[in-house]
Amino acid sequence: MISEADYQRAVELLCAGELVAMPTETVYGLGADAANPAAVARIFAAKGRPADHPLIVHLAGHDAVRHWAEHVPDVAWELMETFWPGPLTLILKKQDWVPDAVTGGQDSIGLRVPGHPVALELLRRFAAAKGARAGIAAPSANRFGRISPTAAAHVAEELGERVALILDGGPCKVGIESTIVDCSRPQPVVLRPGHIAPLHLAAVLGQQPAIASASADTPRVSGSLEAHYAPQTPLRLIARADLADFLAAQHGKRCGILSPNSPPAVTPHDWRQLPAEPLGYAHDLYAALRSLDCPGIDLIVVEAPPADPAWAAIADRLRRAAAGAGQR
Ligand code: TXA
Ligand code: MG
Repeated sequence: MISEADYQRAVELLCAGELVAMPTETVYGLGADAANPAAVARIFAAKGRPADHPLIVHLAGHDAVRHWAEHVPDVAWELMETFWPGPLTLILKKQDWVPDAVTGGQDSIGLRVPGHPVALELLRRFAAAKGARAGIAAPSANRFGRISPTAAAHVAEELGERVALILDGGPCKVGIESTIVDCSRPQPVVLRPGHIAPLHLAAVLGQQPAIASASADTPRVSGSLEAHYAPQTPLRLIARADLADFLAAQHGKRCGILSPNSPPAVTPHDWRQLPAEPLGYAHDLYAALRSLDCPGIDLIVVEAPPADPAWAAIADRLRRAAAGAGQR
């Protein structure tokens, strides 16, 4: 439970250019006053993130959008009406005044009204203090390239003294980062898959949106770098049919297994059973990965998720985790 004093302190810190970690429904964010370049620079320093990676600006409501975005196409308004507050980030052409520190020097900006009551309350109070259109720039509150935090304790582990205050809003409901849709192009393009799936977007857009390929199309989306969302322990994705043989061949290695199935009666390995449906799986995924990413485990083995569109966002994060893992 977050007290009145916590909110007041959070707003004071933000107004003073300090960092505040806040819960959102997706993952925890590392927040700063988005209109204050010095405050935004602190985010990059705390995360160890390259300065040309753009940040998402979180807003209290739709009213603030025009302050940040110069051009807002009709489809963007329709998506906001349907999915905000919620786990959807829209990329729009930015207003000239928006600091380069926030956009990584690009002419577009990422905007989102988050669905978590604590984030919304903080945003409303910050807007009351700073002016109605104030925004909080917030990337996921992890060190660059690491697993996003889905609980306040993860933020403390990742950032420790680097963040002035962590608001503890409990575990994040969704558990993976927001869907990003680029509305600055003639047709909307999904840059990062998430909880809001192409099927949901199609219901608003009238057609399936294009999905950006992770390579040349999205060089500026840090979530599109292969080495992202990664544990320090090596990670392999193994098809269900091959799992038993693969584990049998790992002589002397201590494996940490993520699987929707229950462990065999006797196993020398550490086993985490995750829910067999995608919403529950996403909710638990990062906490499970984090708990296996420890010196006692030599290899994280993840049973490959089903090749079903409902699992696409999870498959995306696991593929990137496998590509970036093992760099300790
Ligand atoms: O769920 C989320 O989106 C979480 C919570 C805290 O809101 N935030 C998050 O932030 O995942 P971050 O910085 O870890 O990832 C934001 C992604 C990055 O991949 C960034 O490159 C992309 O959004 N992004 C932000 N502004 C952009 C822009 N103008 N053009 C293209 N990509 C952009
Ligand atoms: Mg991130």
